[in-house]
Amino acid sequence: MQFRFQMLMITAILVSACAEQAPEMAVYDPAHDYFSFANTEQFVTEHLALDLTVDFDEEELRGSAIHRMRRIDSDATEIILDTRDLDVTDVRVLLADGRSLAADFRFGETDAIGGSPLIVSVPEDSDSATVFRLKLQYATNPDSTALQWLPAKLTAGAKYPLMFSQSQAIHARSWVPLQDTPAVRMTYEAIIRTPPELLAVMSANNDPLTARRGEYRFEMPQPIPSYLLAIAVGNIFFAPLGEQTGVYAEPELLEASVFEFADTQEMLEQAEGLFGPYQWGRYDLLVLPPSFPYGGMENPRLSFITPSLLAGDRSLVGVVAHELAHSWSGNLVTNATWRDQWLNEGMTSYLESRLMEVIYDKDRADEERVLSYQELLLDLDEVPPEMQALAPRLDSGDPDDFQGTIHYSKGQLFLQYLENAYGRDAFDAFISSYFDAFAFQTITTERFLDYLEDKLLQSEPSRVSRAEVEQWLYQPGLPETVPVPSSATLDAAQAMAAAWADEKVDVAEIPIDSWSPQATVHFINSLTADLSQQRLAELDALLGLSDTRNAEIGRAWFIQVARRRYEAAYEPLRQYLNRYGRGRLITPIYAALAQNGSDLYRAREFFEQARAAYHPITEASIARALGLDDY
Ligand code: BES
Ligand code: ZN
Repeated sequence: MQFRFQMLMITAILVSACAEQAPEMAVYDPAHDYFSFANTEQFVTEHLALDLTVDFDEEELRGSAIHRMRRIDSDATEIILDTRDLDVTDVRVLLADGRSLAADFRFGETDAIGGSPLIVSVPEDSDSATVFRLKLQYATNPDSTALQWLPAKLTAGAKYPLMFSQSQAIHARSWVPLQDTPAVRMTYEAIIRTPPELLAVMSANNDPLTARRGEYRFEMPQPIPSYLLAIAVGNIFFAPLGEQTGVYAEPELLEASVFEFADTQEMLEQAEGLFGPYQWGRYDLLVLPPSFPYGGMENPRLSFITPSLLAGDRSLVGVVAHELAHSWSGNLVTNATWRDQWLNEGMTSYLESRLMEVIYDKDRADEERVLSYQELLLDLDEVPPEMQALAPRLDSGDPDDFQGTIHYSKGQLFLQYLENAYGRDAFDAFISSYFDAFAFQTITTERFLDYLEDKLLQSEPSRVSRAEVEQWLYQPGLPETVPVPSSATLDAAQAMAAAWADEKVDVAEIPIDSWSPQATVHFINSLTADLSQQRLAELDALLGLSDTRNAEIGRAWFIQVARRRYEAAYEPLRQYLNRYGRGRLITPIYAALAQNGSDLYRAREFFEQARAAYHPITEASIARALGLDDY
């Protein structure tokens, strides 16, 4: 945050002035969260109690948040919380002896990305309390960046409205005033008041048998960082998948969801075998409407999932394996700041591939490894070198823009490299001891590195040196020793693309029915540059690519359609852009249209027609891809 950044600048200037040097750059502190205003070295929240009314007419949550806070610095007199667009009406300190003291509060300067720091003066009478409760009365704004209020027509059933949150990376502050940094963990409880016909669920102990009466109570006894606070309210019902697992969805999607995610219980059991005990009680999924901006979000006990996984053949459940794996990498051991995001996402991508291997087989896991490696290679062409490190310098900008395949795929490859060097048994033992050692803690890349050195590298120093590890963590690109994944089935699909382009095989001979959707995606990605419209038409007619109901095949195909200006498929492309709202699926298609030299205006037209149904996060990323300056 600018505020923190300036403080460090001042320190840097003082330090360098003493050394009689001109200041060049502020000192970068990898342990500091530049995306929060909170003064967490002085006060920390240990427990949060929410009491919120969900008002669909006003599109607002209103009520109170009570923080149980611990004073770490006995001289500190001001508490700074993160907020964005919150209407705070009353703040008081509640003392153990029952007294309630009104506290003065004001907002600091608003930052476009970080929101507004809420500065609370601790009343003098409560100066000596080390633990106290801070109660804030507040309401959210309809434009809260964390909450999407969907009118009934944008839900599957079209009868009831639905609301859901997306707190990662720094959106929790737009629905709760809090210390919005992954460095602080808190337990929480909540009372959520909704219209009586609707159900509320949270990233907490959802009771599948709860009575639907418009008042729901939650408890989250394990301490979590703020980005894992989550809520959804709608015409949502539950169906069990296994003893400890189940799925929530609108009734229209429930049966399809039960079929698609039938392997979830087994995933959980296998994950425990590989990574250690699951620490969170139940594991359920919530299938949201199409506007949910991500494939999945690992909200503890209740992953939020895009309906675009409902392909009817369980081919896209790698996303579920991924969100489940976050129950260890991310939710149990958490990145200290967004700069260390690879600790969450890279580790999770590695665990996801391991899970896919045991639940399905190595071929399937290898297909997915190759596809994500290919995406990484494309990204490495685009991402500036200083942002290609797994742990780069990250102290400005929007952490939502700090996404992409680097932390995911490069992180996964780094861990695969370590596995190969030390052998699976030794590496598995390392991984479970790591989860055990840092359970319910937040750690920086540097702490990971020290632990790795201590527990793994030093056991056999000749296999991997600290310098090699540092190259992965701090240098751009990929080291020469990168373990390049390979897949025989994907190779065959690629060979088929070349043979068909060379007219060595006829389109009718392409064995698409015997391929996995991943092989089909790879085939589409491998189409050579110089295909005539006529040949694309042939391909589409026989393979039915424009009509596919598999969202990943559609993504790969419509990117090609847009790049190659294959206008005959623009109508199904337009429909695709209206069917899905997940950023990964649609943003690259808009970008390809915008970049093909002719269709920027058409892309903007498609966007105008579809944007009302998109989530603000997706809307913003598409607007940027289309050069629209309202973002
Ligand atoms: N935690 C992420 C989603 C996220 C990342 C939200 C950063 C906000 C900021 C989630 O676990 C994720 O990685 N989702 C992927 C799944 C895929 C890699 C299997 C997605 O949405 O595509
Ligand atoms: Zn993830």
